[in-house]
Amino acid sequence: MEKETMAVETLKKFNQDHIIDWMNKLNEEEKNKLEEQVLNLNIEQVIDMYNNLSQTFEIGDKKIEKISVTDIDKLSKEDFDNLKNTGIEIIKNGKYAVVTMAGGQGTRLGHTGPKGTFKVNLKNGEKYLFQIIVESLQKANEKYGVIIPWYIMTSEENNDQTLAFLEEHSYFGYPQEKVKLFKQGKAPLISKEGKLLIGKDKLIKEASDGNGSIYKSLSVDGILDDMKNNNIEWVFVGGVDNILLKIVDPLLVGVTINEGNQIASKSVIKTNPRERAGVFCKIDGKPGIIEYSELPEEMIEEVDENGELVFGDVNILSHLYNIKALEQLANMKMPYHIAIKKSDYLDENGNLVVPEDKNVYKFESFIFDVFSSFDNISILRVKREEEFAPIKNKEGNDSPETAVKLYNARD
Ligand code: UD1
Repeated sequence: MEKETMAVETLKKFNQDHIIDWMNKLNEEEKNKLEEQVLNLNIEQVIDMYNNLSQTFEIGDKKIEKISVTDIDKLSKEDFDNLKNTGIEIIKNGKYAVVTMAGGQGTRLGHTGPKGTFKVNLKNGEKYLFQIIVESLQKANEKYGVIIPWYIMTSEENNDQTLAFLEEHSYFGYPQEKVKLFKQGKAPLISKEGKLLIGKDKLIKEASDGNGSIYKSLSVDGILDDMKNNNIEWVFVGGVDNILLKIVDPLLVGVTINEGNQIASKSVIKTNPRERAGVFCKIDGKPGIIEYSELPEEMIEEVDENGELVFGDVNILSHLYNIKALEQLANMKMPYHIAIKKSDYLDENGNLVVPEDKNVYKFESFIFDVFSSFDNISILRVKREEEFAPIKNKEGNDSPETAVKLYNARD
């Protein structure tokens, strides 16, 4: 069947006739691009999600309970050393790789461009977030006599800019052959009425579909194969915006191996019940994290018999996986979380509409939703002042100012 006919049929099938009308107003080249896009989009899945909004992630009647963690402060000196040595062996033998999730934009920060290109003024000089990561990797490489492969997850929105930035800065001295970029997934935005929107580029509006798309993207983009070819056994996955993130921590590897788990993650204790961070818990008996936006009100301030928060272990986006777990997760169907956002779009005459209120559904998967397909994961509770200084907001909590203070204090 001809490309045009296939695109039109798909749009008709999913009641998106306004896109067909729009298509007919475009020139040949623009029309071609739009048809290509329609054929490559998973419209069916998005419309299905829209029609089944209730099937997206919901706590509903799931049983949410406290989960136990391994507290770094409670390890004996002997255990600490032994566990660390186990991890050091793995790293020294070249079996450790690092993935940085950098698909997000610095919108909340007011930064235009990939978040990793944001600069902070530290006491040892001005540094970009990507540069801070490179420096941690270089330190570890020197210490363990290896060159750790570094993979960076970008998105459709920021891949080219990220690549150009890293090239311009010569990868901050990191051996380029050890750095690989891969793109995360994306999904169309959909209006409250269930309609696809047209963006300024005259194509259907799409956006990144959350950091949970990492598993599939690692596999589709050939990164998993690359890791296997390099005999990687343990893969660290971290965010781009925590300037105290310990990217190479042999202790975490040792704890995970010792506890016989395939996945691990780190926590710190909540500063206050309303801190905007995900918390570790058990969901229907399985390990999990509930995002700050989804934790039921009555659980936010719940305390145990010692007066401690029941859900007081915060996710700092510091995850470790055995390569086998990543292989297993590559084909996993992930639940979607709905975010309602404000998004401009072109109307049927090509005029830009800037809505005053939130007008679109954005579907996102969360990286930690797969934890519950494992009976156990290791959770290592570490010290906040040593490992968590996130940069999320322009000012106030979790801002460059608070993060830099924490960074300077540790150094
Ligand atoms: C995230 C965690 C939250 C945790 C907090 C700690 C998730 C879903 N939430 O929240 O539980 O307490 O960090 O700082 O993990 N990213 C992508 N692609 C995307 C979306 C995000 O690569 O589509 C990356 C970002 O570049 C960043 C990280 O994932 O490195 C976190 O993303 P962000 O949206 O800032 O998450 P938070 O809401 O801060």
